[in-house]
Amino acid sequence: MSVPLLKIGVVLSTMAMITNWMSQTLPSLVGLNTTKLTAAQGGYPDRSTGVLPANPEESWQVYSSAQDSEGRCVCTVVAPQQSMCSRDARTKQLRQLLEKVQNMTQSIQVLDQRTQRDLQYVEKMEVQLRGLETKFRQVEENHKQNIAKQYKAIKAKMEELRPLIPVLEEYKADAKLVLQFKEEVQNLTSVLSELQEEMGAYDYEELHNRVSNLEERLRACMQKLACGKLTGISDPITIKTSGSRFGSWMTDPLAPEGDTRVWYMDGYHNNRFVREYKSMQDFMTSDNFTSHRLPHPWSGTGQVVYNGSIYFNKFQSHVIIKFDFRTSSISKSRQLDYAGFNNAYHYAWGGHSDIDLMADEGGLWAVYATNQNAGNIVISKLNPNTLQIIKSWTTNHPKRSAGESFMICGTLYVTNGYSGGTKVYYAYSTNSSTYEYIDIAFQNKYSHISMLDYNPRDRALYAWNNGHQVLYNVTLFHVIRSEEL
Ligand SMILES: *[C@@H]1O[C@H](CO)[C@@H](O)[C@H](O)[C@H]1NC(C)=O
Ligand SMILES: *[C@@H]1O[C@H](CO)[C@@H](O)[C@H](O)[C@H]1NC(C)=O
Ligand SMILES: *[C@@H]1O[C@H](CO)[C@@H](O)[C@H](O)[C@H]1NC(C)=O
Ligand SMILES: *[C@@H]1O[C@H](CO)[C@@H](O)[C@H](O)[C@H]1NC(C)=O
Ligand SMILES: *[C@@H]1O[C@H](CO)[C@@H](O)[C@H](O)[C@H]1NC(C)=O
Ligand SMILES: *[C@@H]1O[C@H](CO)[C@@H](O)[C@H](O)[C@H]1NC(C)=O
Ligand SMILES: *[C@@H]1O[C@H](CO)[C@@H](O)[C@H](O)[C@H]1NC(C)=O
Repeated sequence: MSVPLLKIGVVLSTMAMITNWMSQTLPSLVGLNTTKLTAAQGGYPDRSTGVLPANPEESWQVYSSAQDSEGRCVCTVVAPQQSMCSRDARTKQLRQLLEKVQNMTQSIQVLDQRTQRDLQYVEKMEVQLRGLETKFRQVEENHKQNIAKQYKAIKAKMEELRPLIPVLEEYKADAKLVLQFKEEVQNLTSVLSELQEEMGAYDYEELHNRVSNLEERLRACMQKLACGKLTGISDPITIKTSGSRFGSWMTDPLAPEGDTRVWYMDGYHNNRFVREYKSMQDFMTSDNFTSHRLPHPWSGTGQVVYNGSIYFNKFQSHVIIKFDFRTSSISKSRQLDYAGFNNAYHYAWGGHSDIDLMADEGGLWAVYATNQNAGNIVISKLNPNTLQIIKSWTTNHPKRSAGESFMICGTLYVTNGYSGGTKVYYAYSTNSSTYEYIDIAFQNKYSHISMLDYNPRDRALYAWNNGHQVLYNVTLFHVIRSEEL
């Protein structure tokens, strides 16, 4: 089946796009014609798919309420009148099944807190659900029972729901609900299989193949969705004003759910005290922190907190140290061979910023320069446990004329300077080992950026701007063509 070109911009939250994609393209992937579903008043379901009731006279009601008190969309399925079904034992099973489908609260709507765009897409989904409701209501009016057809209708519902499993997994903000939902959907699937056994084959093979195939493609698609090319940087939000002109601050992209501890390192040399704030909220509103003393002072502002450890460049060396906050000890230390240090190859602003450590979706990276590469930027992917270089890329961009750099989805983005008007103007993709000049302006609100790093969990840029701790959202964009799906 041919899928139209899907343009997916990952704006602020991937979910916006996923939701849109689910409501518009997913059904067509599964072979459902959305137009027909929503315009189902005519009652001519798509027979060719074999998943909708051939005769829509017999089925279940689907209600969707806009939102429950917590802002979630609740979708309820109600069985036809019991009296009509009571004679058949299998009907009972179906009814049990339905009870499970009932109250399947779709956590997609927790997106509420997010952008307007999300809401817009959610509304589109609701339109679809309403279409279903109308259809099923018509169906209920006819009193001839036909369980097989009902079964098919539920299967159609299932087909819509199953793809939600990987999608919801992506959506970490409401993990508990997602897990429950996932379990319910999986339970439903197994109940359906049992039913299928009893009731004989209704193109089940075909349906099953279709669903597995879809799942596979969805998974691949999710991978792609999670990543993309930088196309925009939002206006900054000042989180806090504190510290000197130079420093760095961050959250751990691999921190467990709910852990928003903020790590804060003031100054670029001769300091070894890392501040830990309990949460972003605490960081914003208080000066209540725990202090960790590192065994060595750091150089520059290139530290990164990754999976519970801080990785930093030891003062006046090209040694990288991994210090584990859980054990308060060095768990690894290694020389970064050939890397310039001590202001040999700093960023434009100076400050011993020779070695910049960072993390993105793909792992841990070191950005530095070497004599061998004529002072141009070298990108190395590091093993986070051994600190060994997994692979290196040499770019043609002089490190000293770079303002800052950050990594998103395996692409290094370099800014043109640290003061005045700033923009991201150079991008090196480790995927293709190619570079390009780009032009993405962003506001340099306090005129001196000494740290700029991407956090793949928040999809945000953390910046230290002249004693202000600042955040930017990023817009990532990925075009998925049908042949890629
Ligand atoms: C979907 O249904 C609409 C309305 O019935 C129809 O115009 C359109 O051609 C259908 N699309 C596909 C892909 O079948
Ligand atoms: C439906 O889900 C909500 C939220 O989880 C819960 O409070 C409520 O008790 C559930 N209702 C039923 C009938 O299970
Ligand atoms: C799913 O099925 C398992 C085993 O039958 C059961 O223990 C669990 O409670 C079910 N979960 C839900 C959400 O219905
Ligand atoms: C500071 O943090 C500690 C430990 O988290 C807590 O016990 C204390 O109440 C906090 N003080 C303030 C003023 O928030
Ligand atoms: C993070 O640390 C935990 C244990 O501390 C480890 O099991 C896990 O593999 C680490 N994750 C990554 C991506 O390194
Ligand atoms: C990089 O390449 C891998 C494998 O070819 C692919 O999965 C990934 O999406 C690519 N990343 C980007 C940003 O293009
Ligand atoms: C980023 O987007 C989220 C969700 O819309 C919003 O809550 C947050 O304030 C934004 N942050 C910035 C720096 O714009």
